[in-house]
Amino acid sequence: MRKKVTVIGAGNVGATVAMRIAEKELADVALIDILEGVPAGKALDLTEAAPIETHDSKIIGVTNDYSLAKGSEIVIVTAGIPRKPGMSRDDLLTTNAGIMKSVIKEIATVAPDAILIIVSNPLDAMCHVAFDTSGFDKKRVIGMAGVLDSARFRAFIAMELNVSVENTHAFVLGAHGDTMVPLPRYSTVAGIPITELISAERIEAIIERTRNGGGEIVGLLKTGSAFYAPASAATEMAEAILKDKKKILPCVTYLQGEYGIHNLFIGVPVKLGSAGAEEIVEIKLTDDENESLQRSAQAVQGLVDDLKRLG
Ligand code: APR
Repeated sequence: MRKKVTVIGAGNVGATVAMRIAEKELADVALIDILEGVPAGKALDLTEAAPIETHDSKIIGVTNDYSLAKGSEIVIVTAGIPRKPGMSRDDLLTTNAGIMKSVIKEIATVAPDAILIIVSNPLDAMCHVAFDTSGFDKKRVIGMAGVLDSARFRAFIAMELNVSVENTHAFVLGAHGDTMVPLPRYSTVAGIPITELISAERIEAIIERTRNGGGEIVGLLKTGSAFYAPASAATEMAEAILKDKKKILPCVTYLQGEYGIHNLFIGVPVKLGSAGAEEIVEIKLTDDENESLQRSAQAVQGLVDDLKRLG
């Protein structure tokens, strides 16, 4: 039987995720949005591209009809408002928390066994909302942040050294925001740590560009935020789960004492397989790296506390 992935939100990120999943023939795709006509129109458009792109994935789009999500292995949530210039991801907090709650209530009813990949921002806080609302096991609530931030870091490393992106590997941990923690010691080109290939000054500049990667694109687009790379990142995570690849990727997951962090969603290396976030990988951090991760955790905790206060 074919696998099914539901994508909630047929906007820039959602429609692009639907396209990537369909074109890779990872699963059939259900696309759900509150907008009238848009999910159906985009699904039909993607379906009409299939003969040229040579895939047989089925893509169906509907408005508010969650019955279409029944039987999904994975539900990717991109519903929400994106950033505009001058806004931080945190500025989206209350609006997107309300949207997340309503979406997850529906999903928990029709697809109680699904694995949730959360994309809406502010990401780490939205994972808390999804976790609390769904009541799902922590392994089945995973946030997309580190794969995207690491991809940005990798792209900049490849540009710096004029090497193939395929030679690059990078780890960015922590929250999906200004406090993210890029780890140059664990970032390599053909297995060689970048600390041996790039000057400390240039690494710092690349880290800064990575931290501001989303903001740089918001500044250029003006009417919304990045979507091609976020969609690629969510698709890589979905693929690892659908194919039970046991792939270690930086993902936002629920920590209960790992890295000295308790009851908080934040980005760390995770093994992704058919059960979801199957294992948290604890890597050794220097005092400085650990301090940055703890600072990042405090920032997420602040947002989670704000959410509780706002109800
Ligand atoms: N249910 C379903 N869909 C919803 C709901 C809801 N309750 N509320 C909003 N949406 C839909 C919108 O109608 C829109 O089509 O979510 C879609 C969001 O699409 P865009 O505005 O294009 O935003 P996008 O760039 O895709 O970003 C979505 O991902 O990266 C994050 O910060 C970003 O939180 C934002 C989210």
